[in-house]
Amino acid sequence: HVAAAIVWAVKPQLFGAAAEPIQAWVGGALHLSVMAGIRSESIVAATGSERVVRAMPNTPALIGQGIAGLYARPAVSGDERATVERLLRPTGQTLWVEREDDLDAVTALSGSGPAYFFFFVEAMMAAAIDMGLTAEQGRRLALATCAGAAGLGLASDESPTTLRERVTSKGGTTHAAITSMQGDAVDAAIRRAVLAAQRRAAELGREFG
Ligand SMILES: NC(=O)c1ccc[n+]([C@@H]2O[C@H](COP(=O)([O-])OP(=O)(O)OC[C@H]3O[C@@H](n4cnc5c(N)ncnc54)[C@H](OP(=O)(O)O)[C@@H]3O)[C@@H](O)[C@H]2O)c1
Repeated sequence: HVAAAIVWAVKPQLFGAAAEPIQAWVGGALHLSVMAGIRSESIVAATGSERVVRAMPNTPALIGQGIAGLYARPAVSGDERATVERLLRPTGQTLWVEREDDLDAVTALSGSGPAYFFFFVEAMMAAAIDMGLTAEQGRRLALATCAGAAGLGLASDESPTTLRERVTSKGGTTHAAITSMQGDAVDAAIRRAVLAAQRRAAELGREFG
């Protein structure tokens, strides 16, 4: 039996042990890996196939609303890219990147991104309690607002900046909040945090190889 396509979804540390016993049957296969940090070169070396696609998915895939960054080695054909897109479609959207290193940036934005969002929601819930609402009221208001804003952003042709400015009239309540966030340099802190995740992704890539 010779495999046509293989999906690699074991922990990165286990890849070597999982690939070794099947090497004889997978050299002609298209390989799709969701393993974090294992470079396509290592997959070529372990499997004997140059046809490797790496995917970096995220957890909203569980409800069909993920977005996976994809990188294909040059040997992967257009038809094979389409096969990968078809395989991943039930998990949400896909986005191809040109350079393998760009997957570190994808990891930092969309791979780790759901946790940044939950961190923001936790802070909104804490503020809800400060203002005398219950945590559950804060949770519902914050989650529905964030989901609604994301939906609005996706449905609109306008930039996030325009959408923000539209609800930020001078002297108003949103203006007070945004001015406070700007005073605390929240935007710079978020940029630093995302770049820290990208550096860590690159480090893990060097560790696992
Ligand atoms: N979780 C995420 O959001 C996420 C996001 C991006 C990337 N990833 C990547 O996805 C991969 C899987 O992560 P996970 O959290 O789903 O890990 P997990 O829950 O530990 O799943 C690993 C799977 O690999 C199987 N497995 C282990 N050794 C094997 C072997 N020698 N041969 C065949 N199958 C073997 C395990 O089967 P048994 O249970 O039967 O042992 C299990 O189904 C990792 O490489 C991770 O970096 C995960």
